[in-house]
Amino acid sequence: MPESTAEPQAVCSPITRSAIFIVATLKPGPEAAERVRGWCADVAGLTRSVGKRVPGGNLSCVCGFADSAWDRLFGDPRPAALHPFREFGPEQRRALATPGDLLLHIRAEHMDLCFELATQLMAALGDAVTVVDEVQGFRYFDMRSIIGFVDGTENPVGRKAEHFTLIGAEDPAFSAGSYVLVQKYLHNMQAWNALTVEAQERVIGRSKLADIELDESVKPSCSHSALTVLEQDGEEVKILRDNMPFGRPGAGEFGTYFIGYARSPEPIEQMLENMFVGKPAGNYDRLLDFSTAVSGGLFFVPSADVLEALAERTG
Ligand code: HEM
Repeated sequence: MPESTAEPQAVCSPITRSAIFIVATLKPGPEAAERVRGWCADVAGLTRSVGKRVPGGNLSCVCGFADSAWDRLFGDPRPAALHPFREFGPEQRRALATPGDLLLHIRAEHMDLCFELATQLMAALGDAVTVVDEVQGFRYFDMRSIIGFVDGTENPVGRKAEHFTLIGAEDPAFSAGSYVLVQKYLHNMQAWNALTVEAQERVIGRSKLADIELDESVKPSCSHSALTVLEQDGEEVKILRDNMPFGRPGAGEFGTYFIGYARSPEPIEQMLENMFVGKPAGNYDRLLDFSTAVSGGLFFVPSADVLEALAERTG
């Protein structure tokens, strides 16, 4: 099934215990753009240098660029489906867009590895960017999200994961690239924990302890899993998620950093529309009664080969 010989970035890398997510905006001026372009050729080397020191640490870095920065940084050609983050939902329940030109998704078994690579990558970017959001995520007990349900079970694996996330013949100049959508969610844990386990299970559409899908006869059409299952021409269309819990218990902050990869923004946007607007409209995802999206960004992830070559482009 491989549809390209280009080497992808570490989009389909194995699940890790730790991650750092950094979203930054590009400073004005040609020097900033020049520095970011040069940096593109350094990402792989820095990741190797830091990762080599801890065998089995599974350190990886994926970087992506938003529509707002592509032309200034790299000019033509541009990825066919790259566009600004599309907002969905009414004001009180909105998937909103927030500023961000560059995304770093750093994963490893241990936070020290993520921390060191983030430090090196940010040092190499210098004052060319302004960080607008930085989240350190951790893997919670038995792969559970911070709301207590196992997260990631229905992810595609192996060649299916590659098939659903890596661009093929539809955009040959950018084959083995991907699109990635991120959203930072904050949860009202008091309200969530006030629900019975059975009520929580109906929100998610799966059993809490055993993580088994609820029977169709009891699974509500507004459950999270019902609204995020997509079918096209009788076939299921999947995305690859690697959500991470984060938080500051002392500050009463409990969150999920949502990250979804796909070979086109379309399936992820369709899921957002189903969740925030509802399917049909009004039949929205009740998880959103307990979760507020406070950020949103869409980025293009070039293949590793294209990323390195972008250093030679002129904006
Ligand atoms: C509030 C943040 C979110 C939390 C806590 C969350 C949690 C979960 C959990 C616990 C599951 C069930 C287990 C699994 O298969 O992973 C799940 C499934 C899923 N979620 Fe989310 N999710 C969140 C946001 C999103 C968003 C924004 C999207 C898409 C835009 C999404 C897409 C999916 C998909 C595709 C599935 C698998 C459905 C299936 O095939 O059964 N999730 N999520």
